[in-house]
Amino acid sequence: MVSGRRVRSSLGSIQVRCSNHHAAAQGEVRKVALVQGASRGLGLEFVSQLLGRQGDSRVIATCRSPETAQSLLELQDKYGRDRLYTAPIDLTKPATIEEAAKLVRENFSAKVDLLLNVSGVLHIPGKMMPETSLDRVNYDQLLLSFQTNAIGPALVCRAFWPLLQESAKADGRVLPTMVNISARVGSIEDNGLGGWYSYRSSKSALNQLTKTMSLEFARKNPRVAAVALHPGTNDTDLSKPFQRNVPEGKLFTKEFGVRRMLEVIDSLREQDNGSFFAWDGQKIPW
Ligand SMILES: NC(=O)c1ccc[n+]([C@@H]2O[C@H](COP(=O)([O-])OP(=O)(O)OC[C@H]3O[C@@H](n4cnc5c(N)ncnc54)[C@H](OP(=O)(O)O)[C@@H]3O)[C@@H](O)[C@H]2O)c1
Repeated sequence: MVSGRRVRSSLGSIQVRCSNHHAAAQGEVRKVALVQGASRGLGLEFVSQLLGRQGDSRVIATCRSPETAQSLLELQDKYGRDRLYTAPIDLTKPATIEEAAKLVRENFSAKVDLLLNVSGVLHIPGKMMPETSLDRVNYDQLLLSFQTNAIGPALVCRAFWPLLQESAKADGRVLPTMVNISARVGSIEDNGLGGWYSYRSSKSALNQLTKTMSLEFARKNPRVAAVALHPGTNDTDLSKPFQRNVPEGKLFTKEFGVRRMLEVIDSLREQDNGSFFAWDGQKIPW
């Protein structure tokens, strides 16, 4: 929907067209967020900041084992179960994704305003490291990377899409949005270094899935947006083995990285649907 708004500029007072989505500050009107991959790292920090910055926000946090995710349980004690709901999702087990959507709908919320797919795998201590050459590429690593970084997040989008559509119906000011946390190394155009075959290619697949969803969403009513977002290099378990190569000042705390990503997410407009952004709002080529 488009509404007219009068603004002053150096050329005098002019009429500009803006959508209701843009007129509303999305950080304020999006009340229900789902964070997939909330046990630790950036996902846990998203949950914490989303609950902390707005007194009436509600968050659904999913992870493999919510019953033993100590930090999430502490947040639930702090904010209450009516504001933080947890549900199990293991991205390698599609049935858990469908079941979680059902649990959320029955027990917590019929709509989701913002969906964040945060989980990802790059290495597993003692088991898996990113491949530095083709002869290290193997089936198991490719499979697990694609399951965790691309296939699972796509199935989460599919399962929760109806709840994002409900969000659009409930409040025309909200731009219901799916944010898939990707990585700059998933950009094919930006690939100047090579290596990290499984991680790179699984994030490229996530990017293509996101772009394809965005085109379908743009054609449908009610509209939902989909974007990919690169967090920068943040100090988490995922980046630990690689931090010595990070230039000074480029390794962010989780608090900083998530705060900057939320600024980007809050400022998204309908025309940003189908884009790949970095933590500072710059667009990354696909
Ligand atoms: N940190 C960075 O510098 C950086 C840079 C670029 C992109 N990213 C991306 O940012 C996202 C978050 O990364 P992070 O740094 O927060 O990583 P992290 O601290 O290693 O956390 C990874 C998360 O993914 C979850 N996960 C792994 N396998 C899963 C599965 N099968 N099902 C459900 N959840 C699963 C983990 O859950 P468990 O606790 O159950 O293992 C954990 O919550 C990832 O998509 C990553 O690719 C991070």
